[in-house]
Amino acid sequence: MRTLSFDIVLIFFNLFALICENVARGPSTVCNTTEAYFDHPDTNSNCRIDKDLNVSVSEIAKNHGFTLEKHTIETDDLYVLTTYRLKKTDKDYGNKTIFLQHGLMADFTSFIYNGNNSLAFYLGNLGYDVWLGNYRDTEYCSHKYLLRTDPKYWEF
Ligand SMILES: *[C@@H]1O[C@H](CO)[C@@H](O)[C@H](O)[C@H]1NC(C)=O
Ligand SMILES: *[C@@H]1O[C@H](CO)[C@@H](O)[C@H](O)[C@H]1NC(C)=O
Ligand SMILES: *[C@@H]1O[C@H](CO)[C@@H](O)[C@H](O)[C@H]1NC(C)=O
Ligand SMILES: *[C@@H]1O[C@H](CO)[C@@H](O)[C@H](O)[C@H]1NC(C)=O
Repeated sequence: MRTLSFDIVLIFFNLFALICENVARGPSTVCNTTEAYFDHPDTNSNCRIDKDLNVSVSEIAKNHGFTLEKHTIETDDLYVLTTYRLKKTDKDYGNKTIFLQHGLMADFTSFIYNGNNSLAFYLGNLGYDVWLGNYRDTEYCSHKYLLRTDPKYWEF
């Protein structure tokens, strides 16, 4: 017959196992279902590692064979806009220029967050010289004198 203390020990053991499993799961694990995510995701055939998750934007570009070359552009009203240019690690830039500018409430990552199907990498692999702009409200931009926490920064 099971005693109450046995049940309590069992609960703690299960909790401990659950915590260990969660710690072991990397932040880059992607699964098709919630069940798979909690069922040994490291060996589960419904899970995979997405190398683009939880890494910097430079790392994402590297995963797809590119280097992000950073250019800063100062506007007349002294905002500093970061614009990235894709550089092929083996050959140099492409020979026809394409400038991609993101939409509302987004930033240049819209063009690199879809693995090999990302528009930036797709065009880069076709041999285009790809430039990626960022508007001044994104985290990739700043102002020469104003901090982003200063309400004046947002008066543009
Ligand atoms: C589930 O995920 C695995 C690994 O990412 C993939 O190979 C498989 O095709 C997926 N299956 C379905 C039904 O989406
Ligand atoms: C990756 O995830 C950890 C927590 O799991 C976090 O501390 C870290 O800042 C993340 N790194 C990036 C580059 O997002
Ligand atoms: C993505 O593209 C790179 C560069 O062309 C290639 O090396 C890699 O195998 C591709 N990955 C997938 C998952 O298609
Ligand atoms: C770049 O130039 C090469 C050689 O002139 C040409 O074959 C290729 O189509 C060009 N690529 C683009 C994207 O225009």
